[in-house]
Amino acid sequence: MTQERITTLLTENRSYLPPEHGKSSAWISGTEEARAICQRALEDPDDFWAARATQLIHWYKRWDKVLEADDAKHKYRWFTNAKLNASYNCIDRHIISGRRNKAALIWQGEKEMDVRCFTYQMLYTEVCRVAHALTSLHVKKGDRVALYMPMIPELVISMLACARIGAIHTAIFSGYAEGGVRSRIQDSKAKVVITADGVRRAGSIKPLKANLDPILEKCPSVAYVLVVQHAGVENVTMVKNRDIWWHDLVEDFTLDVDFPCASMDANDPLFLLHTSGSTGKPAGILHSTGGYLTYAAHTSQWIFDMRDDDVYWCTADMGWITGHTYGVYGPLSLGATTLMFEGVPTYPKPDRYWRIVEKFRVNILYTAPTVIRSLMRMGDDWPERYDLRTLRVLGSVGEPINPEAWEWFHNVIGAGELPIVDTWWQTEAGGAMISPFPYASKLKPGSASFPLPGIDAVVMGDAKKDGEDVSHENTKAGHLVIRKPWPGLMLGVYNDEEKYQSYFKRFGYFDSGDGAEIDEDGYFWILGRMDDNINVSGHRLSTAEIEAVLSKNQYVSEAAVVSMPHEIKGEAIYVYVVLKDGVEWTDDIRKALKDAIRKNIGALASPEYIQFVDNMPKTQSGKIIRRMLRKIAGNVYDDIGDTTTLAKPEVIDEIIHGHKNVIEGKPEMAKRYDEPEQEEAKPEAEAKEEKKA
Ligand code: WT7
Repeated sequence: MTQERITTLLTENRSYLPPEHGKSSAWISGTEEARAICQRALEDPDDFWAARATQLIHWYKRWDKVLEADDAKHKYRWFTNAKLNASYNCIDRHIISGRRNKAALIWQGEKEMDVRCFTYQMLYTEVCRVAHALTSLHVKKGDRVALYMPMIPELVISMLACARIGAIHTAIFSGYAEGGVRSRIQDSKAKVVITADGVRRAGSIKPLKANLDPILEKCPSVAYVLVVQHAGVENVTMVKNRDIWWHDLVEDFTLDVDFPCASMDANDPLFLLHTSGSTGKPAGILHSTGGYLTYAAHTSQWIFDMRDDDVYWCTADMGWITGHTYGVYGPLSLGATTLMFEGVPTYPKPDRYWRIVEKFRVNILYTAPTVIRSLMRMGDDWPERYDLRTLRVLGSVGEPINPEAWEWFHNVIGAGELPIVDTWWQTEAGGAMISPFPYASKLKPGSASFPLPGIDAVVMGDAKKDGEDVSHENTKAGHLVIRKPWPGLMLGVYNDEEKYQSYFKRFGYFDSGDGAEIDEDGYFWILGRMDDNINVSGHRLSTAEIEAVLSKNQYVSEAAVVSMPHEIKGEAIYVYVVLKDGVEWTDDIRKALKDAIRKNIGALASPEYIQFVDNMPKTQSGKIIRRMLRKIAGNVYDDIGDTTTLAKPEVIDEIIHGHKNVIEGKPEMAKRYDEPEQEEAKPEAEAKEEKKA
């Protein structure tokens, strides 16, 4: 956690009351009501969750038990033996309840004129056809289907088609590159991959199918690849007997086909989604059908105060958990209208979001601090050109939102009135865990406010006071831990029980990996990751995963990856590298390392700086002390910690020296370059004179 954040925290004392307008008709209409609900959920969680599951979800068969808990194994099974289907809940039931012609999905392509709109009836038709198409490729209940796709309606249709069959979809963000994609397909042993010819990114077209082909050489599980023709990429290579165009296959199924929903057990997995593990291998987070869907619908309704005539827009890519829960499953299970945008906020101009809000009269906008900060920088002129008055609730997710960005969002986008729901959660959680209710919570900019009903979040002490609960010692910061299970909690980690258990190892409860502080009013302030994950622009990256890529380079002896504060991205990646004996650093090596990261993980993991050092700061036993490296990367030179315990204390000064050079764009090998050879030091003119002579 950064010093800056703690300082901000301690000086932050502004607060905002919820708006009066809209309060009386809100789902949760006041502080008292919110408090009473939390109390009820705490006293009788089974009763509370049973009530929400009954109100929000259509069950083919009710559960025997609300929760079956095995605390010793940390296994929690919600709504045991209940039967349902997520696709039915997101589509079919709305068709027979008066929402047949309501827009379920509005898609805005990167090009202004590219708009596609699906009513619930239209979505039904497409999802049924695709479910048939997948069945014709022998996809069955329990099979994995990987979705490596751009932000296009076919992605949502594929998710719901899988859910209909009972197949487990596993989305892979279209910005991931080779290594990231391969490891995810291999881990899931997907039978089918759905992709597209290419993906549009700010005016250019990046190939997607062509990326996939070399990857699949090492993915023997994949029998078929379904390719959506989207970006107009020419000469797409189609492998015989494996690759099929989406339109060719789906065309075979008439518009009047039905595809009956599979009756799924509440604890059958709905999807698999990988997140950064701490060992370098991505962890496949497995979510249930019943508990997850209940939690998605429940939180969507209360946090966003979602109403039937709202146009709701979650800007997250469907390749991340936010897109799953708050782009697809939450809003659609409530019968809402969800908006999907293919492009980026700044292309062709930085007014894109505001245009979309005006164009579709968006009521609820859920986005990320990194986006808010980058748009804030572009100036108020852009949003001021548009009519944003339909907006009612604003949301933020992915990383701590700095009070300055909060204020801008609230004042410039929200006309100084709109509530901001700062929702804290993570892939493993299925849905938000700490968040305000828009019409019930007094807000403090930068705080995610209070745990939601049924979320027993506490702050626990660090290693020194192992496991000791300091949740009521107000000024203390510590580990953010959830003591009770909730329906959105993952079922497990795919094929990695050890990883699943690691979440519970330290405290015996679910350890979020984040640090937090509770202030005197009980507000939670998230301080960031306490493990080796880095949060770049709201995306979690594992330092171990990046280090593993770097170590594969033939010249690299050791690499250490740490986070550094970044104005727009929140955190950025800073890399320290020790080269093998006798290898001199060159810009080519630096470039090769950057390229390796981009190729293996993706552009989002691209390091801000790579610093070559002669030695890493190590303990006597040879462990790299990343804590010190993080301090240096963050320009905190005077609070490095006790360097006397280092095997070679002098390395710190060397690294600091090098760091200063790196951020100033100078060569960083301090010792070598401080005394440049005379030859090089000569001004150009002089050297020329010499040559002449
Ligand atoms: C990590 C989870 C949850 C969907 C997006 C990311 C950080 C997330 C907040 C917030 C402070 C936040 C945490 C968390 N984070 N939301 N509102 N305030 N930090 O999902 O990739 O699983 O990352 O994102 O550090 O642990 P994820």
